[in-house]
Amino acid sequence: MSRLLVCPPDFFGIEYEINPWMRLSNRVDHARAVAQWQILMGIFEKDLGVVLERLSPVPGLPDLVFTANAGLVVGRTAVVSRFRYPERQREETHVEQWFREQGYEVVRIEAGLHFEGAGDLLGFSDTWFGGYRQRSDIGVYPILSERFHREIIPLELVDSRFYHLDTCFCPLSGGELLYYPTAFDRYGRQVIAERIPDELRFAVPDEEAITFACNAVCVGKHVVLPAGCPTTQVWLHSRGYVTHPVLLDEFIKSGGAAKCLTLALD
Ligand code: ARG
Repeated sequence: MSRLLVCPPDFFGIEYEINPWMRLSNRVDHARAVAQWQILMGIFEKDLGVVLERLSPVPGLPDLVFTANAGLVVGRTAVVSRFRYPERQREETHVEQWFREQGYEVVRIEAGLHFEGAGDLLGFSDTWFGGYRQRSDIGVYPILSERFHREIIPLELVDSRFYHLDTCFCPLSGGELLYYPTAFDRYGRQVIAERIPDELRFAVPDEEAITFACNAVCVGKHVVLPAGCPTTQVWLHSRGYVTHPVLLDEFIKSGGAAKCLTLALD
């Protein structure tokens, strides 16, 4: 049974521009965003049997919906994010309070180091990968590696459209990986190729990368991904996954999709 932290989009909108997807002029259609979010949640709860924990939305925190960035949860420990941009730093006290209320041991990264939670740190059970440069700093990974006794391989993100690792890198339960090679430098691509065998890796095509194909949530043999990624779906089917495409274009206006809207709690 999976548990995910989510936050209803009551106050979601584009109120600032901190990534190349966000345009103040590109207004969110609120009713549409709410409907898309509810369909996504319905798939998790009804189709996949996921337990959803809801963080209460806060006026003035339009990106709180992207709970992948709340922090990183490992067992009963929660590392609260330290956001790069002041616009999102205001989320930190709210999520810290939630983790404390839920009885998590809360870890804070030292001030001055940025870390944007499960949006930048993801991987397989033994090896994790940490995206850095755009949002998180490489310096957090040795600290987290020591704390959680996991190898963390840093991956530099070189394309500003793919500013969090979860926008271009999606590990799957069977050891496979969806990724967008262009988002990484030569060294990063080489490390990925050394760690994940060829037949387990799928390089998503350009047009599906910008439709956020990699921003998918894998629950067992099910993959929930944004609509409009047919080639990625065909590959997933060939590996035995059941796919659940969801239209999430209102959230893509803010630079996020399925994965960004969830935080794994186990
Ligand atoms: N507008 C948000 C930001 O720029 C989107 C966050 C998407 N989250 C993610 N895990 N990729 O921070």
